[in-house]
Amino acid sequence: MSQRNDTSNQNGAFDSLVPVAMIVAMAKNRVIGVDGKLPWYLPEDLKFFKRITQAKPLVMGRKTYASIGKPLPNRLNVVVTRNAEFSHEGVRVCHDLPAALELADQHATIEAAEEIMVMGGGEIYRQALPFAQRLYITEVDIEVEGDATFPDFDPSEWQEVQRVAGQPAEGQPSYDFVVYERIAD
Ligand SMILES: NC(=O)c1ccc[n+]([C@@H]2O[C@H](COP(=O)([O-])OP(=O)(O)OC[C@H]3O[C@@H](n4cnc5c(N)ncnc54)[C@H](OP(=O)(O)O)[C@@H]3O)[C@@H](O)[C@H]2O)c1
Repeated sequence: MSQRNDTSNQNGAFDSLVPVAMIVAMAKNRVIGVDGKLPWYLPEDLKFFKRITQAKPLVMGRKTYASIGKPLPNRLNVVVTRNAEFSHEGVRVCHDLPAALELADQHATIEAAEEIMVMGGGEIYRQALPFAQRLYITEVDIEVEGDATFPDFDPSEWQEVQRVAGQPAEGQPSYDFVVYERIAD
């Protein structure tokens, strides 16, 4: 029997069958992006992203989609935008976050995916945080200037369940792959 993950926030109730996770690489000052791009080039983190998101539905904001420029293969790509005209081949479009999560949930249920992956950017992370059960955060050990950030989350609501040190190449900052899980009420 399936168990529902009951969550709601100011954007409306969302009652998912499949847990919602978020995946991000974040600097010490919470910066995740600058001028529509990532502030760093960390191939090991890109590999980690690819591995963790494989065969899981992706939910992203229109600006994050624009920064990638094409759908990511072998995964449902759901793009959230207020623009009624927006359409791209290989992408499903939703006009609010609960609708995007609902679509991803249906797909994940049918495909037996373990979780829904919210993959940014800052605006979408902020709205999706109340729905999330797990956070995959690559904590990059630098402070950078930027215009997109990951929301501050209450550490008392989250438990660190895994931390693995990355292996930066020469000249790259150090980083850890960290997993947090929401502490049950
Ligand atoms: N470090 C990382 O792991 C990581 C991951 C992802 C992204 N990023 C970076 O983050 C930056 C992008 O983040 P961002 O915060 O600027 O943008 P974003 O969250 O990717 O996208 C924002 C857009 O999403 C749409 N949107 C947001 N809320 C909505 C709602 N409730 N209903 C309907 N549509 C909604 C709007 O699109 P319209 O304007 O089309 O209406 C809005 O302009 C880039 O620099 C990117 O490289 C970093």
